[in-house]
Amino acid sequence: MVEDMKVTPWDVKGNIDYDRLIKEFGTERLDSKLLKRIEKHTGSLHTFLRRGIFFSHRDMNWILDEYEKGNKFFLYTGRSPSGDVHIGHLVPWIFTKWLQDKFNVDLWFQFPDEEKFLFKDELTFKDTEHYLHENMLDVIALGFNPKKTKFLIDTRHAGLMYKPACEVAKKITFSTVKSSFGFDDSFNIGQIFYTAMQSVPAFLPSVLAKKNIPCLIPYAIDQDPHFRITRDVLPKMGYYKPAAIHSVFLPPLTGSGGKMSSSIKTSAIYTTDSPKVVKDKVMKYAFSGGRSTLEEHRRLGGNPDVDVPYQWLRFFEDDDVKLKQIYDDYKSGKMLTGEIKQILIDKLNAFLEKHQERRLAAKDKIDEFILKV
Ligand code: TRP
Repeated sequence: MVEDMKVTPWDVKGNIDYDRLIKEFGTERLDSKLLKRIEKHTGSLHTFLRRGIFFSHRDMNWILDEYEKGNKFFLYTGRSPSGDVHIGHLVPWIFTKWLQDKFNVDLWFQFPDEEKFLFKDELTFKDTEHYLHENMLDVIALGFNPKKTKFLIDTRHAGLMYKPACEVAKKITFSTVKSSFGFDDSFNIGQIFYTAMQSVPAFLPSVLAKKNIPCLIPYAIDQDPHFRITRDVLPKMGYYKPAAIHSVFLPPLTGSGGKMSSSIKTSAIYTTDSPKVVKDKVMKYAFSGGRSTLEEHRRLGGNPDVDVPYQWLRFFEDDDVKLKQIYDDYKSGKMLTGEIKQILIDKLNAFLEKHQERRLAAKDKIDEFILKV
């Protein structure tokens, strides 16, 4: 039996019902009308938009209204350094890079290096320092424009961020935090304050520019409770509500609901995995929609709708025609489980080979990205 769905910034499990999340979180579906409107500006639609991987939003129409009036937005997203980056983490960032290129806008990328320190008992600041460095390499490797991208690191930019964070914090009650995140009295006071820090980059560029600039935040839907609070508070301080665009989660390799997670090593492919490790993990752990015998598979066909290799190809195979062929062949039984797994392995390894090269080259570029104050 699959557990009940749970989606919070710190815990995602169960069978995720995205329609239900749209209702419960009060967001809007990215419908075909809005996709057309985006396409008018971008010329084509990113794979993640065509396939509903980005599926929900808040105030995207407002962002485009302002953009069409010549009032450009900036992008904001982030990563809390707490472990190695896996390919699930890359999904919102790959899309953010596409938005940066298509709209030619600035990106503020937050590394809240205190977040997971506060939330995970065993994590030290020495650990977060290490992961901060490693994680920055992954972000840079995706090809963000250094002239238009600013890394904001909470403990290093604390002097800049603390006052704005306090202004936000002053407008959030303990009871709001309790009900938004399910905290009780046993949570530490750093955890209670944290959402104020995650709100800051949504208006810090406006503070620095001394004028209001629209903000668009791409993120996986589990971060939404933070930004519901941010959207409540910022207008009370005289700033715009940030807009948002939401992605689904990359399913774990083992296919058992929830999202890809670093705490279950066999459920994730890391950006530094070697071709052999990728191959072994996919062959051994990928949840398969195939039949139990070859004869049965040929006769009855596989089930691509639950097959993790197929589900991952929806994220990583850009060619719609190829993807459809794979779907049809797997469903009819013409394509076997070993074959679809091999297609995924080749796809991932081609991507990771390039990523790992760029990651190495990123070592000399970190300084270019960190915001100078
Ligand atoms: N809380 C996020 C994490 O756990 C990090 C983060 C900070 C973030 N600011 C963000 C994510 C903005 C998305 C958008 O990794």
